[in-house]
Amino acid sequence: MKRDIKAGSPRQSLLLTILFLILSCLLWGLLLGIIFKNPILSWAHQEIGQFSNQPTQTSVPLLTSTPTLSEFLTEATRVEITPTRALSAQETLDQIAADTIAYYAYELFYYPVSQDTRLPDTYPTDSAQLPLVRMGDVMVAEIIAQPLNDLMTDAKAAGFSPYLRSGFRSINDQYTAYSRYVTEAVALGMDLPNAQEHAREFSAVPGYSEHHLGLAVDLLDYFYVDWIVARNNYDKGLYQWLRQHAYEYGFVISYPPGENPQKAKAGSGYSISEPWHLRFVGYDLAEWLFNAGYIDPHSSVTVNGILENIYKTAPEQ
Ligand code: DAL
Ligand code: ZN
Repeated sequence: MKRDIKAGSPRQSLLLTILFLILSCLLWGLLLGIIFKNPILSWAHQEIGQFSNQPTQTSVPLLTSTPTLSEFLTEATRVEITPTRALSAQETLDQIAADTIAYYAYELFYYPVSQDTRLPDTYPTDSAQLPLVRMGDVMVAEIIAQPLNDLMTDAKAAGFSPYLRSGFRSINDQYTAYSRYVTEAVALGMDLPNAQEHAREFSAVPGYSEHHLGLAVDLLDYFYVDWIVARNNYDKGLYQWLRQHAYEYGFVISYPPGENPQKAKAGSGYSISEPWHLRFVGYDLAEWLFNAGYIDPHSSVTVNGILENIYKTAPEQ
């Protein structure tokens, strides 16, 4: 005998609906459990939350007044470096900087952001404090567009093929870069704390990157774009040219190779060398650093060390 399907439908539909709801709840519960137990995702929440909520003990205040060059040189003497170019003790950093920059930029030119020093709590998270412009595929602080363009034009004229790989990075951009390295290390079997420590050797935690200033760029040789190949060729081609000439355009290599060329010079602020990472510090300080031997792996001078000294010696308001 045929069953009357239509007659049983309302009850069947009700039962099916209840079953569907129960199954959905179970599935959602399972999914949420996976998400919140996933260490990478819960860590991600912490990292992003940390930047917006917590004041940091490591950030240093923005300059409140103009440090004098004599104070700067006192610190330079303390770390036993002798500038090869004679500079007047009456000359202030303000005057030194005046060739290229507005006062506001000048504060950020010398800000010693590094693995240990975060950007000020007041610094914008989605943008830079300085106005940005597009250069190729990336954004950079407008103030460095001309010097960077000059540098790239001259590098091309010298026979190289510079490729602007990255410039300004917001908190989210930096988070994307950093978390990728952490995730890759976890996928290779590291536990989360070790993966984070590993990533921090060469990738800044959001809020701790020079790229966020808009004053730093990664300039790769078009033929050596792979990071490892580029690092191994720090003394060849474009990378060698940058070591010798970047300062002429106001740029320095923040993390040049130390005695072990895979590692950055001790005190650079990050521990892995980056022959491609340029930071604009202004023409005169760049020249001063070059003459003081910041590229030389045997000297004690580092960009980060000198920037920290400038900040330490800046008088309180
Ligand atoms: N690679 C440098 C340290 C950065 O992420 O800013
Ligand atoms: Zn970089």
